[in-house]
Amino acid sequence: MTSRRMRLFAFDFQGPAHLSAGLWRHEHDRSSRYTSLRYWTDYAKLLEEGRFDGIFFADNVGYHDVYEGSVAGALADGAQIPANDPFLVVSAMAGVTANLGFGLTASTSYEHPYALARRFSTLDHLTDGRVGWNLVTSYADSAARNLGTGEQIPHDERYDVAAEHLEVCYKLWEGSWQDDAVVRDRHNCVYADPTRVHEIGHHGKYFDVPGLALCEASPQRTPVIFQAGGSSKGRALPRRARRGGLRQRRVDPGSRPSGPDGARPRRRVRT
Ligand SMILES: Cc1cc2nc3c(=O)[nH]c(=O)nc-3n(C[C@H](O)[C@H](O)[C@H](O)COP(=O)(O)O)c2cc1C
Repeated sequence: MTSRRMRLFAFDFQGPAHLSAGLWRHEHDRSSRYTSLRYWTDYAKLLEEGRFDGIFFADNVGYHDVYEGSVAGALADGAQIPANDPFLVVSAMAGVTANLGFGLTASTSYEHPYALARRFSTLDHLTDGRVGWNLVTSYADSAARNLGTGEQIPHDERYDVAAEHLEVCYKLWEGSWQDDAVVRDRHNCVYADPTRVHEIGHHGKYFDVPGLALCEASPQRTPVIFQAGGSSKGRALPRRARRGGLRQRRVDPGSRPSGPDGARPRRRVRT
C-alpha cells in the first residue's frame, strides 16, 4: 500500500467573516482582531507549530450587494466586508515562520499584470519562495463599477483576459532577468548586467507590456498558481497556460524550491 501524506491548509479571509457567517458573535471569537498585525503573526506561528503546510487567503475586490438589491445585509452580517488586502500581512507572517506557505487571491480582471507580477516577485523574495497565487477572474458587479470598467467583462471573455494576463506575468517572471543578471561588481561599477536583463516585448489584445520586469529573479520566479473556476472556460485555463509555456509541477507546499545542493535551481531564461 502506498502511503499518502495529508497536506493541511488554513483557509481564511482578511476580515471578520468569510464563509462562517455570524460566527463573529460567538463570545470566544477573535476575528475582530483581523486589523491587528499581531493577530496574524500569532496565527502564523500557531499554524507552523501545528505543522500546517500553508494558509490560503480568499479575497474579493467587490462586495455582495445583490441580496435585496443592497449591500446593507452584507454590512450588517460582516459578510466579506470589511475586507483588508491580504498581500500586506504576508511578509510579517513569513517573518515569524520558516516553512508555512501563503496562497494569495488576485484577480486577472482588475489587477494589471505588470504591477501584480511585481507584487508576487517581491513577496516571493521576502518569503524565500513561499507564495502561491489563487487566480480568480471575479464575479461581482460592484468590483466592475468601483474599479473603472463599469460593467463586468462577459464571463467567457474574462478567461481570455486571464490567459493573456498569465502570459504577461510568465514572460516577466521567466523571461526578463537571467539568473546571473545581478553581478554586484563593485570594481567595475556594475550592479546588474544590462545584457542579461531583457524586455519582454508583449503586445497583445488586452495588454501592452514592452519592457522589462522591475524585480530581479525571485526564488521560485513563477509562484505556484491555482484556480477554482469550474466552467469549461475555467477548466481550460491551465491547458491554455501550459500551451503558453507555463509548466505544471509537483510542489510540496511550504517547501522551498532548491537544487540538489540546496541552492536555487538554475533556470534558463526564455527570450
Ligand atoms: C474553493 C473556491 C474558492 C474560491 N475563492 C475565490 C476567491 O477567493 N475570490 C474570488 O473572487 N473567487 C473565488 N472563487 C470563485 C472562482 O474563482 C470562480 O470565479 C468561480 O468559480 C466562477 O468561475 P467559473 O464560472 O469558471 O466556475 C472560488 C471558488 C471556489 C470553488
